Amino acid sequence: LEHKRRLRDLAQEYKQAGVQEREEKSNRYYMPEESRRKKIPDRYEEPGEGEGPAPRDEQRRWEEQHLGAGLSRSGSGAKAGDEPYQLLLERSLPVFPYREDLLSAVSKHQILIIEGETGSGKTTQIPQYLYEEGYTSGGLKIGCTQPRRVAAMSVSARVAEEIGVKLGNEVGYTIRFEDCTSPRTVLKYMTDGMLLREFLTEPDLGGYSVLMIDEAHERTLHTDILFGLIKDIARFRPELKVLIASATLDTQKFSTFFDEAPIFRIPGRRFPVDIYYTKAPEADYLEAAVVSVLQIHVTQAPGDILVFLTGQEEIETTCEMLQDRCRRLGSKIAELLVLPIYANLPSDMQAKIFLPTPPGARKVVVATNIAETSLTIDGIIYVIDPGFCKQKSYNARTGMESLIVMPCSRASANQRAGRAGRVSAGRCFRLYTAWFTHEMEETSVPEIQRTNLGNVVLLLKSLGINDLIHFDFMDPPPHETLVLALEQLYALGALNHLGELTKLGRRMAELPVDPMLSKMILASEKYQCSEEILTIAAMLSVNNAIFYRPKDKVVHADNARMNFFVPGGDHMVLLNVYTQWVECGYSTQWCYENFIQYRSMRRARDVREQLEGLLERIEVELRSAAGDTVLVRKAVTAGFFYHTARLTRSGYKTVKHQQGVFVHPNSSLFETQPRWLIYHELVFTTKEFMRQVIEIDSAWLLEVAPHYYRSRDLEDAGSKKMPRKPGKSREDLG
Ligand code: CDP
Ligand code: MG
Repeated sequence: LEHKRRLRDLAQEYKQAGVQEREEKSNRYYMPEESRRKKIPDRYEEPGEGEGPAPRDEQRRWEEQHLGAGLSRSGSGAKAGDEPYQLLLERSLPVFPYREDLLSAVSKHQILIIEGETGSGKTTQIPQYLYEEGYTSGGLKIGCTQPRRVAAMSVSARVAEEIGVKLGNEVGYTIRFEDCTSPRTVLKYMTDGMLLREFLTEPDLGGYSVLMIDEAHERTLHTDILFGLIKDIARFRPELKVLIASATLDTQKFSTFFDEAPIFRIPGRRFPVDIYYTKAPEADYLEAAVVSVLQIHVTQAPGDILVFLTGQEEIETTCEMLQDRCRRLGSKIAELLVLPIYANLPSDMQAKIFLPTPPGARKVVVATNIAETSLTIDGIIYVIDPGFCKQKSYNARTGMESLIVMPCSRASANQRAGRAGRVSAGRCFRLYTAWFTHEMEETSVPEIQRTNLGNVVLLLKSLGINDLIHFDFMDPPPHETLVLALEQLYALGALNHLGELTKLGRRMAELPVDPMLSKMILASEKYQCSEEILTIAAMLSVNNAIFYRPKDKVVHADNARMNFFVPGGDHMVLLNVYTQWVECGYSTQWCYENFIQYRSMRRARDVREQLEGLLERIEVELRSAAGDTVLVRKAVTAGFFYHTARLTRSGYKTVKHQQGVFVHPNSSLFETQPRWLIYHELVFTTKEFMRQVIEIDSAWLLEVAPHYYRSRDLEDAGSKKMPRKPGKSREDLG
């Protein structure tokens, strides 16, 4: 109540202070038209008039509307460091003036679509408003989903700080393998996948009074499935409030799907952004990005830089290149803080991107598309956009999934550019030609239409939803993809020939991992090697972040890596690394000496502990194969028999579909080239690479997947016979 009263008072003061705050920012950053146009020639074209996501006079309109003609700058006496000042900053976000309107709309409508520019305060403020309004009384929770782990963590940390509680108490988050909540938690941020899993334990989500499905425009697979499930529970839980929050994209579609739910628009704050295209295509966009960063740093007015790249590897390389060149330039240039952000970055490093830039220095944040809409970093004036992103792509015919670097959509490019215009007029440097924009898709395809559905189908079956064809999808997945998912689950033994969940399938659904991985884990029971398999599963889950390979010590690092090689393949190498680490008492020093990333190991250890707990729950006894690698590799094969490749005269081919694939050069089997391989994943960069491979004996395939492989499939590569189609026909699967 005290808090609430103070809020009301603050609301009075807010407008004036808001003006002051904005003016301070403007003084620091605003570039007059002339100087904004200065320089940056070379590889770029001059920006065209009126380009950019916001028309120029929109800024004026915004200022009139929000700052008001009559409001003048007057001191509220608050300054940085004061607690009220901090609060005022939060309360000066674009959403704040609409606090009361929003709350009354929520009380009137069960389902509300909320549309607002990125950074307007949807994620951090709206759950707080509802909390202040009493939506959590009676021990109920407000849940807010995020498509990305990093966002769930960083946003909840921010909200905990704003409310003044310790993260994990009243405000918490859950992501896969990490639960930072307590029985006291009432504001719960989580990944969309975690909320989906909560349906398994609480099918009506009765513990929640409000569910906010945030970043709805991202249209991740899990978010799309949540739409259908939540629409359903909302029907028989009239007191449940549902908020669908989205950046300014596609909101009409959400409204239509949710039976014409009203759309609440939060007017945005967006300044004009000049857009520069390159004169010619860039062959090496990392190099071009690095040069552009330095060019901005040396010649342009203060303001931070945001660079969009496709993934961890690119980001690390670019950060190293930047640091390297800054070191060489030494004191000739002002300080440049180089900060990476990507999904696997440890949370203490993630937090750094939000720290204010010290005076005289400049910050450059090198990010994946997580910074497109999920995270807002204040102070960005310059955006560098090579125009690419990494996407999962799925071939519904072969069932092969791979990660591909491809041009991003025009909608993404627009969002990226918009990041430069939050605090003042900005500039966006696109490392592609204006012509190239015509090559881009308008929006990206929803994930549900380009991914393997095995995981989701297993989950829905566990929830008793059998008729998947008639599930309420916003955009239905391709029919073949659904059928293929059913076939795969059948081959894994999770479904019977009627398409019903088996006992194995029920246990598989208990594990928060993909069906092949959970099958591998459960198969370890039979092969009596759960100790080893758990370690392998945990190590695989930290995605290629085990070995550290700094640019200036490549040879040392590669030697260190090769020292871990053992027969059998990469899974066994990972097991070896982990075992040695355990033997030396989880030592940091040991990691350092062996070019192993300590943080990844710590994470693998956490994941392993979680999995161990889950196995206990489904009563799998932990046994060790005591050095028998055949048992371990058989368990892997039992889960991943779909991912089999065989060496032919023309290199490796996948067994069922004869697609050419290559062993990744970092693999321990790169030189051995065994006849039969199982791979963990396919990654398409320059070629279709198999990452994390083990050597198997083809006879194991008949043992672990008798209804998928026939001995004819496995005849020697020399013979001309093609493998036949999968054993079971589609009609049998219901
Ligand atoms: O969800 P939406 O994009 O509408 O905005 P938000 O994430 O709620 O962000 C509102 C404000 O909080 C922005 O100005 C962010 O910069 C700030 N914020 C922050 O400073 N640190 C965080 N970890 C998260 C948000
Ligand atoms: Mg948000």
